[in-house]
Formats: sequence, structure tokens, C-alpha cells
Amino acid sequence: MRQVDSLLSNGIFQGLMGLSFLSFLISVWIFCKFKSPDYLPISTSEYSKWGQKMSTFENNSPHLYPKLPYLPIFPEIENEDVLIHQTLHKNQPTIAGIAAILYRFLSALHESNQQLATNKNQTTSSTNGDNKRNEVEVIRQAYFRLAQEHLVPLDIAYQGRTIFDVRNDDSIFLSVASFREHLLADTLMSAFGSATHPEKLFVGVIVNNCFGLDSKIPCRGSPRVVGQDQNGRDILEIEDGKPDINHIGTFCGNITFQKYCEQGQVRVFYINETDALGPAVTRYYSSKLWGGETYYCQIDSHLKFANDWDQLYIQDLKLTRNFPKSVLSTYPPGFVNFRQTPPYTPGTRLCRCQIRANEGFLPRVEMEGRCNETDIRPTQMAFIGAGFFFASAKFLLDVPFDPFLPWLFMGEEIALSIRAWTSGWNIYSPRKNLIGHQYRPLKMHTPHYWTSVARLFDKPNMVDQVTHSIRKRIKIMIGYPGIEKDEVPNENDEDDPYRLSYGLDRYGLGTERSATDYLKFAEIDLEQKTCGPMKWCSEGQLE
Ligand SMILES: *[C@@H]1O[C@H](CO)[C@@H](O)[C@H](O)[C@H]1NC(C)=O
Ligand SMILES: *[C@@H]1O[C@H](CO)[C@@H](O)[C@H](O)[C@H]1NC(C)=O
Ligand SMILES: *[C@@H]1O[C@H](CO)[C@@H](O)[C@H](O)[C@H]1NC(C)=O
Ligand SMILES: *[C@@H]1O[C@H](CO)[C@@H](O)[C@H](O)[C@H]1NC(C)=O
Repeated sequence: MRQVDSLLSNGIFQGLMGLSFLSFLISVWIFCKFKSPDYLPISTSEYSKWGQKMSTFENNSPHLYPKLPYLPIFPEIENEDVLIHQTLHKNQPTIAGIAAILYRFLSALHESNQQLATNKNQTTSSTNGDNKRNEVEVIRQAYFRLAQEHLVPLDIAYQGRTIFDVRNDDSIFLSVASFREHLLADTLMSAFGSATHPEKLFVGVIVNNCFGLDSKIPCRGSPRVVGQDQNGRDILEIEDGKPDINHIGTFCGNITFQKYCEQGQVRVFYINETDALGPAVTRYYSSKLWGGETYYCQIDSHLKFANDWDQLYIQDLKLTRNFPKSVLSTYPPGFVNFRQTPPYTPGTRLCRCQIRANEGFLPRVEMEGRCNETDIRPTQMAFIGAGFFFASAKFLLDVPFDPFLPWLFMGEEIALSIRAWTSGWNIYSPRKNLIGHQYRPLKMHTPHYWTSVARLFDKPNMVDQVTHSIRKRIKIMIGYPGIEKDEVPNENDEDDPYRLSYGLDRYGLGTERSATDYLKFAEIDLEQKTCGPMKWCSEGQLE
């Protein structure tokens, strides 16, 4: 002690004390940052390894704090009122604030769906046939009202810019839409495990699951892998009564992958399966979990990635003639066995479409052609497939996701393609297939959102009926001939918030090229209802 006293008068020691006080402050700061209960400890050596790599990123990313907890499901977001206010009105957006806004929307939707499902709200019409149609229209309008109240203000607040600044560090955001997915953990493990730079990979996952929260409504048809057959293919059991496995727990609980969850690289948003809205709106949600990463990549939830897929896609994207306004897209080839490496085969191309009466005569995108192995750069196509595309994140600014496509399945891709192209973006096929996709024939009996929705509203054709009207929104956007003669409710009244074209000025076509020119480019004749043959596309004639 005496020694210390005498040393205290020593200037050098005071300097050291200052330093150690500083490091004390730093440790308090680090402790405060990580003390929240959602933080699971990882080993010190592991952390310091990752800490070095991540420190620049963390320092430049205040929007990731407070962290959005990836568990438990429907996490409580502390200070959500403040975070929402800062996000909407103070130009201080945070991922947690955005998730809080989405959760408010979801709770309101849940309550509204429950009311509508139990028929508490009577429809006006008394005749039977009309009544059915009107019930679905009431459900659609209730959705439009809630989306306007909760989602549109967020989009208006960041109109004309991206919510966060785009970082220039070759980071990738993966947008993952999942519905009761039994391969979600495998997909995430493959994405991180096969990437050249997993530390630059960020994921936004939407988990639509049956959580078993409602004791009156048992879960139906929960899928799980119970083994492999002699060819190494998964054997799937579809069980009633059990809630779905939460694959976020599986992924984040794995010692190899835990660090990505801890570091805010995995952002999760949970949805009760009964409130599922189909892929288009699910992808709207996941687009809101983007946090400034350089590239935006949208995928399905049952995929297997090839080694170095991240670097190879970035390379191909940069090689395109129209970079940075280029989108890579494809339908990934199927894999027989999920755990088998997908071959680096020549990229499959989206160069065909079909126009069918039972799909409301909207063009359906299909595969045609393969990339030529001698191509020195990707060549153009006419379509974006929603199951995989890869682009510079500025895409979000030019083609903001449209929340007014609830329950839609077929129609999402033609809308995305035409919006991107008219906004000046060109569409390319990546030269190699770097992803394998599990294609699912109906006989696999994996769950579908339309079944959950039909069950909730007790309307077997609910999704068919509501998409019949939602498709008209896309037709109005494209300028489909005859659409003006079609009975489109409320369309003549510009102030009617329920009209199907609501918000198309924000979520519609771009202004760089016209819809007519796109239709010529894609050889789509809406009068004759024909499409193709698009030789330029399948033969890769256009750079
Ligand atoms: C999910 O469903 C449960 C059970 O019906 C309900 O209590 C809960 O509020 C729902 N959560 C959301 C976010 O909709
Ligand atoms: C049901 O009707 C009540 C009273 O008119 C209204 O306040 C509520 O918003 C309606 N709910 C839905 C889901 O439309
Ligand atoms: C963690 O992930 C690895 C790689 O996918 C896998 O081999 C391992 O079995 C997983 N561990 C656990 C405990 O699930
Ligand atoms: C690939 O491109 C080369 C060079 O342009 C051409 O000679 C060849 O016929 C093409 N192959 C196919 C299968 O189209």
C-alpha cells in the first residue's frame, strides 16, 4: 500500500491509471452491450477472433443496437415506443425499431383476422352468392387498411432513399422467406458454411410457423425429417398435434454457427402460420430486415449452396454490362439429396412464359435455355424469379417491395420483372448454378400457406378468391387491355383507400423505360395472350 502511495505521486503511474480507467470504461461499455439476457456467452478466444473481424462493422453500425433478439419467438423489444418514434420521425432507424413496427402490424392483423374468422363482422349483402364474394372482399379490405396504417408510414418516412446507407464492403444480405420449413436450419448452415466470407453474410429470416400457442387449435401437419432412405434422401413425417420445430433454435444453438446469431448477422421475424400472407408479402417483411449490406439476395428456405457462392455471384454481377443496375436471377436446379453438393452446371435461364386462363392471364415465368460455358460475362434475360435473385442493394430504392400483394402466389414474378426493368435494371442469368433447390411435388405433403388460411377463415378457396382480385392490381399496373372493363371495385375513386391500385405510384412501375417496351422486349402480347419464343433470351444473344 505504501508503495502504491509513493507511486501515486509519480506522473507515469497517473498516466497508467488513466489508461486503466479508460479500459475499465470500455469493459463496462462492452459488458452493458452484451449483458442482455438474449446474449449467450461464446468462448473468449472465439469472440476475440471474431471481435477483430467485426469491430469496424460494429462501430459503424449503431442501427444494430439494441439487438433484435432472435429468440424467444415474438420477443419483447425493449423501449419499442421510443425505437418506433426514432425510426419513423427522427431519422434514426434501427432494425429493432423496424421489427417493432412490423410486430404492431402483425398483432393488429392477428386480431383483425380472428374477428373476421369468427364472423363478428357481418357483411352488408344478404344474397348468398354475393355474400361469399363480399366476405373475401371484406378480408382483403381489412388487410389494405392495416397495411396503410402500419406499413406505409415506414415507407413514406424513407421515400427516395434507402433506410440505411449502403455499406461498400461486399457484404451480402440474404432475404429468406420460410413457411413451416423443415430444411431452414440446413439452408442457413449451408449458406454460412459454404461462403468464402461468412463474416460478411447477414440474413433476414421470416419464420411462419405453427408454434402451438393456441390450445384450442392444435397444429396440423408438422413436417420433420425422421431418417434417410437407401439413396440418402430425407424421409419426412407429417405429424398432427405437435408444433413445428423452431429451426432458428437449431441453427443458433449450434456451436459452429452461434456466433453469427450473436453478432446480429441473423435477424428473425416470427409469424403465426394462420396470419401467413403468401410469399410476396413475406418478402416485403424480410426486405425490412436489411441493414445496409452491399448486396441484396432473395432466396427460398430449402436450398443447398456451392462453395464460394458469395464471391462467385459478386464476380458475375460485377461482370454484367449494366452493373450496378443488374439483377442476377434463375430457378436453381433441384437436388435429389439436400446434402449432396450441387454441381457447378451452366446457369439455367428464365426465357419462357405461359399465359393461362386459370391464372388470370398473367404471364407465368418458366425455364428455357442454359448459359453457354464459353460466355465471358452473364447475358440478359426477361424475367426475375422470386426464388433467387442477387443485386446491388440499391435495388430496394428503385424497386421497393409492395406490401399490397397479400396472399398472392402466381403473379409476383412478372410484377417484379417489369418493375425492375422499367426502373432501368437489366436482368441476367448467373453463368453457373451455385444453388440447389428442393422442388416439392404436392405428394410430399409439406404444408402450404393456403391450407392454413383456408382453415382459419373456414373458406376452402379463400386464397384463390382473394388472389383473383389481387392479380388485378398487377394488371392495372401493366396496363392490361380490358382491365378497365373488368369490374374492379372502387377503382374510379382516387381517394378510396381500398382501391386495388392504391399506392402504385410508390410500389409500381419505374420511369426509365415503359411497360410497353418491356412487353415487346419479353415478346408478350397481352391482346393475343401469347408469349415468346424469345430466342435472344434462351440463346443469350444480349449482353
Ligand atoms: C400468435 O398467436 C397466439 C395464439 O393465437 C396469440 O396469442 C398471439 O398474440 C399471436 N401473435 C402475433 C404476433 O400475432
Ligand atoms: C369490425 O367491426 C367493428 C365495428 O364496426 C370495427 O371497429 C372493426 O374494425 C371491424 N373489424 C374488422 C376486422 O374489420
Ligand atoms: C452443428 O452443425 C454441423 C454442421 O452442419 C453439424 O455437423 C453438427 O451435427 C451440428 N451440431 C449439432 C449439435 O447439431
Ligand atoms: C457457345 O458459344 C460459342 C462461341 O460463341 C459458340 O461457338 C457455341 O456454338 C455456343 N454453344 C452453344 C451450345 O450454344
